[in-house]
Amino acid sequence: MEKEFKRTLVTAALPYANGPVHIGHLAGVYVPADIYVRYLRLKGRPVLFIGGSDEHGVPVTIRARKEGCTVQDVVDRYHGIIKKSFEDFGVSFDVYSRTTSDIHHKFAADFFRKLYDDGKFIMQTSEQFYDEQTGHFLTDRNIKGECPRCHADGAYGDQCEKCGSTLSPDELINPYNAETGNPLVKKETTHWYLPLDKDQEWLEKWILEEHKEWRPNVYGQCKSWLDGGLRPRAVTRDLDWGIPVPVEGAEGKVLYVWFDAPIGYISNTKELCDAHPELGSWQTWWQDDTTRMIHFIGKDNIVFHCIVFPAMLHAHGDYILPDNVPSNEFLNLEGDKISTSRNYAVWLNEYLEEMPGKQDVLRYVLTANAPETKDNDFSWKDFQARNNNELVAIFGNFINRAMKLTEKYFEGKVPACGELSEYDRTTLSEFATVKENVEKLLEEFKFRDAQKEAMELARIGNKYLAETEPWKVAKTDMGRVATILNLSLQISANLAIAFEPFLPFSAAKLRGMLGMESFEWDSLGRTDLLEEGHALGESVLLFEKIEDETIQFQLDKLEEVRRLNAEAAKAEAAKNWKPEPVAGNIPFDDFLKLDIRVATVLSCENVKKSDKLLKFSLDDGTGTPRTILSGIAQHYPDPSVLVGRQVLFVANLAPRMIKGIESQGMILSAENWDGSLAVTGLEHEVKPGSKVC
Ligand code: MF3
Ligand code: ZN
Repeated sequence: MEKEFKRTLVTAALPYANGPVHIGHLAGVYVPADIYVRYLRLKGRPVLFIGGSDEHGVPVTIRARKEGCTVQDVVDRYHGIIKKSFEDFGVSFDVYSRTTSDIHHKFAADFFRKLYDDGKFIMQTSEQFYDEQTGHFLTDRNIKGECPRCHADGAYGDQCEKCGSTLSPDELINPYNAETGNPLVKKETTHWYLPLDKDQEWLEKWILEEHKEWRPNVYGQCKSWLDGGLRPRAVTRDLDWGIPVPVEGAEGKVLYVWFDAPIGYISNTKELCDAHPELGSWQTWWQDDTTRMIHFIGKDNIVFHCIVFPAMLHAHGDYILPDNVPSNEFLNLEGDKISTSRNYAVWLNEYLEEMPGKQDVLRYVLTANAPETKDNDFSWKDFQARNNNELVAIFGNFINRAMKLTEKYFEGKVPACGELSEYDRTTLSEFATVKENVEKLLEEFKFRDAQKEAMELARIGNKYLAETEPWKVAKTDMGRVATILNLSLQISANLAIAFEPFLPFSAAKLRGMLGMESFEWDSLGRTDLLEEGHALGESVLLFEKIEDETIQFQLDKLEEVRRLNAEAAKAEAAKNWKPEPVAGNIPFDDFLKLDIRVATVLSCENVKKSDKLLKFSLDDGTGTPRTILSGIAQHYPDPSVLVGRQVLFVANLAPRMIKGIESQGMILSAENWDGSLAVTGLEHEVKPGSKVC
């Protein structure tokens, strides 16, 4: 049986305060959440929209070290920047607080303490990586080493950014402290764990049986976690930043950030409701099962919101569980992964400085391209095209024509609607279904399709004006022009309502132009929204064309970041390079088997149809030139530089046929740290054929 819900609590993942928010955050979480909340509000349904900054955890401490300031400085700064970005982009939180607040610290500590007192945790001792020189246990993110999969150096203990593999610190080859470079040892430490294995059964029933309607990506991830069998998870850490574990003898330990952060949703609700009693108590929103709770998150948050946090709420006992967890996949940027640590992103604060007033353009493009079912790419060319070809050419153009024509023929007053033509009726029937469609799609969290459907209104309007051509009809039949413009203005008013959730700034501008004071979602689809004689406001441009230079500026900016990152990665790799361990000893006689000689290069050229091979002709002192092929072409773009040089080669290697050429030996080269090769040579010239010993 369907449950009757009386109110909806919407949460959006609390972003880490370790940097500004970027388009990936907006597309993945905040725009969809905001669209949903604005829609519910327009429908007149009780809703709270909860947000805040996640200010604990390792990322903020790494940022502080990088920037040479205190962690508090970092979270203060980015909390401010993030909060402002959300306001600027119209993300309409009812509360946007932070996890360093006193209310939160107390709330999260009490939550832990209740579970502790109720015996919901187990204690486990395990070996963790420890830096003996600094006296610190290291968390996954603070450990680096060689990736076991792609062998890139500098992979993190939780992930290799080079190949994208998820890792655990134990898998890293030669792990070291990311910050100091010190080698690490294993040391025992004791922590509190939530025994998730005990939750396996009810979680399976709750998710796999009762929530088949969750998005396939969410359901699938949950299923694979559950199928793998849940294991106890540590809820505390050895760290000096965070909420101290409220238990005696837990000095130096704090709550794991993923334990305290989701509790931030609750403590922020409490903060809001305590200050606004008219909203009801926070308990009503969290503990009354007529509340419907929805978590908007990104895909890396799925396990925490679908399994761990519900298990915490369940262990506590007083709480409701989420009804849905619409999680998006990731948004890439111009084909590459967005990364805060590598500064590869479009930061919202910078976007607004560079393109003031264009919040809605970004909201539009991010929704149109939302990574709802798979990872998607944001490109500036697509951004430009969607703005110019859709927002300007369809939406803006339609509104502009409807307004201008009404000004021209009817002094800016809504003209009377006369008798409808066949074509008018067809147009009306086309848009009659828009409300129902948009609603259905929004209720199913299909924001991308919902916006597309809302855009249908503008397409219908644009087509209507293009086909009815009121500017021509004006020469013969003003009554007909009145009808056409009346209908066009009614469609405009519908657009002003339908786009309020998606493009709140433009919708407000449009309502200003149409002089619409009040409006509600349920009047969507009506054609009597503007009365005859109603005076329109001043017409302004809703959207403007974006020029190529603007796009090029953004592309250049990203290119520069890429260049800097490549440089930094190279410097890092050079710094971390260590010679390979020396091979096992060999007897002297084995060495004597190798006949290494000196030769002078007579000629050197690329082998046809091979981009790797160079063909050497050598003077080896015998009087007959010797041919040797060597796979070093990529390192010598101009092979003629080697002519006349003396090289070392193994003379008694059995000859081999390569590409139809007999190679008689091997030229010795050294492999540099970055894989580049350098041919060996001599300190001064000797006779070709001399033996190396
Ligand atoms: N800070 C986390 C992230 O950016 C999200 C935390 S969501 C919460 O991935 F539930 F823990 F609050
Ligand atoms: Zn890797």
